[in-house]
Amino acid sequence: MSTTPKKKTLISREDIERKVKEMGAQITADYPDKTRKLIVISVLKGAMVFTADLIREIKRPVVLEVLIAGSYGAKTESSGEVNLKYFSFDTLKGADVLLVDDITDTGRTLLAIGERLKKEYHPLSLKYCTFLDKPARRVVDLQADYIGYEIPDEFVVGYGLDFAEDYRDLPEIAIIEP
Ligand code: IMP
Ligand code: MG
Repeated sequence: MSTTPKKKTLISREDIERKVKEMGAQITADYPDKTRKLIVISVLKGAMVFTADLIREIKRPVVLEVLIAGSYGAKTESSGEVNLKYFSFDTLKGADVLLVDDITDTGRTLLAIGERLKKEYHPLSLKYCTFLDKPARRVVDLQADYIGYEIPDEFVVGYGLDFAEDYRDLPEIAIIEP
């Protein structure tokens, strides 16, 4: 007996590729001064697949950093508390920072990270980039500067997004029906 939930494709691999190229081109255009350092911070684990594709579509030098954020555990609802793990960044001061996440749901994760980085490291600028956005679920005032797709209030997996650590390797974005 299989306990694998059913999946329905929401965004195909081809659409993902096209969108990431578009986002990379927009970001490239928005950071024209190559004498300034652009630091891309990937919010792991979810954003690692998207970030890997995105940095190769940004046609200017970037510095890649990562941090680990979590609020879910093995559920499909955020616990509301954002746990952050990172090594100290000595480089953010005087740099432009682009914070990259896979999906913005309540908005708590990106807002908590962004506020903390601004307070601790004083970057020249800080912008938010999210591949997916579920605006219907927002509980804090956060509007990402770069958004790939707005999606309905459904739990999605694939392209880095997991359900209890499964499906991150799926090349498309799918809705799971438990
Ligand atoms: P927020 O803090 O509520 O905005 O949650 C953002 C984080 O929750 C994202 O970085 C994801 O890791 C996770 N998340 C939110 N919605 C989904 C989903 O539909 N599928 C998988 N992970 C999700
Ligand atoms: Mg995440």
